[in-house]
Amino acid sequence: MLRRLLQVSASRRLSNAHFLTSLPTPSSPPPLRYSSSSSSQIPNSTSVEHLDDQSQPTSQISIDRSGLYNPPEHSHEPSSDTELVKHLKGIIKFRGGPISVAEYMAEVLTNPKAGFYMNRDVFGAEGDFITSPEVSQMFGEMIGVWAMCLWEQMGQPNRVNLVELGPGRGTLMADLLRGASKLKNFTESLHIHMVECSPTLQKLQHHNLKCTDEDNMGGDLDKRTISTLAGTPVSWHADLEQVPSGSPTIIIAHEFYDALPVHQFQRASRGWCEKMIDVTEDSLFRFVLSPQPTPAILYLMKRCQWAATEEVAKLEHIEVCPKAIELTQTIAKRIGSDGGGALIIDYGLNGIVSNSLQAIRKHQFVDILDNPGSADLSAYVDFPSIKHSAEEASEDVSVHGPITQSQFLRSLGIDFRAEALLQNCTDEQAESLKTGYWRLVGEGEAQFWEGPDEQVPIGMGTRYLAMAIVNKKQGVPVSFNEV
Ligand SMILES: C[S@@+](CC[C@H](N)C(=O)[O-])C[C@H]1O[C@@H](n2cnc3c(N)ncnc32)[C@H](O)[C@@H]1O
Repeated sequence: MLRRLLQVSASRRLSNAHFLTSLPTPSSPPPLRYSSSSSSQIPNSTSVEHLDDQSQPTSQISIDRSGLYNPPEHSHEPSSDTELVKHLKGIIKFRGGPISVAEYMAEVLTNPKAGFYMNRDVFGAEGDFITSPEVSQMFGEMIGVWAMCLWEQMGQPNRVNLVELGPGRGTLMADLLRGASKLKNFTESLHIHMVECSPTLQKLQHHNLKCTDEDNMGGDLDKRTISTLAGTPVSWHADLEQVPSGSPTIIIAHEFYDALPVHQFQRASRGWCEKMIDVTEDSLFRFVLSPQPTPAILYLMKRCQWAATEEVAKLEHIEVCPKAIELTQTIAKRIGSDGGGALIIDYGLNGIVSNSLQAIRKHQFVDILDNPGSADLSAYVDFPSIKHSAEEASEDVSVHGPITQSQFLRSLGIDFRAEALLQNCTDEQAESLKTGYWRLVGEGEAQFWEGPDEQVPIGMGTRYLAMAIVNKKQGVPVSFNEV
């Protein structure tokens, strides 16, 4: 059955206007968490305060916080700040100085009590943004085809861990299992592991995978959860390290890396300075530049070593994502020792990412510092960093891509799948199917669109990239062998 295509209102043109004057010149293409609208400006950071820009760099890793923060007079006035805002201000006050953008991003997204993802369903028309699995069932089905081909290349092992990182509503996995359910040898080999930090989304995934909890009379430890979509066992974990090792593993990470916290650096007269977040005397968040080197500078140095000097020379801003590097190392080591492969699909660049962090609330781009916890934060994925991290972590893996999402899906047969679905659907479903297909593989604004301007669909076909990390024994993974 076709899922009704979600049409979401997302007028970014208007919402962006007042931010544009304070934008640093972006040297990357405009960022996109898919919001199905056509405007592409970045309402990025409020202007940055240059603190102590004259001081010389030192070898010490410490921050001179004098002058960065003046605690306000103690007040008994009730504050309108949310719990998360109070918490963030508390950290800054307790530390006596600003926090990194990465720490801010981690708190905003995954703070256990009030993080953006933790307590609600943020996807779809009623939520904040839409992702490919929510656009069309064909997305999860094509990933299923890729996973089945890899399983074939692995020699059809009878026990495989199928891991999804950040599964959102569980839609991709549900479509994958429905699509694969006829290939019993494959589905019977699977144990599904959902790596999800949000208890609310874990429940939604349990529901959407149509799970039943089997009690084997041995207490909680003996409980097995089975997805009735293909009769496969399912487990949930807070991170990849918790997924049992020792079996061949297939890992899917769709729009997961973009949610990992990034550190932002800005070129100043004294060299690269980390952008930090502080609180003004009026109790507002603002960006400041660290006057001295911060620990994350080590990751910046590592990133620059992976790039050509000319690539770095033209940049005024650079983002680095230590969590992405660490995660990739874990993935590569696991794939290297247990066999299998990982598929990473996300919006990003095949080069250094400059200044891409963005906030989206209710399908509108908003200021990153505005009401933290009420908007999604995400950043472009740096694909060369993933490639280098994987290759450094394990000699037993090979890295393929990035290729565009369009190349990836079309080589897996999405055109034929769309044709087949069109044979058997109502006119309304056919419209949804065609628009969904176009969103997944198209580029730019949809020329065929006749609806309201602010809802014109934007193709994700070239803005999203796919990369695979596989055990060398498996050879080149399907769809990466054609480019
Ligand atoms: C942008 S959503 C993508 C959802 C899904 N893959 C899709 O395409 O619809 C990011 C997902 O990663 C989860 N997530 C974000 N940070 C996480 C972390 N540090 N650990 C585990 N899950 C995380 C979120 O709760 C959410 O499910």
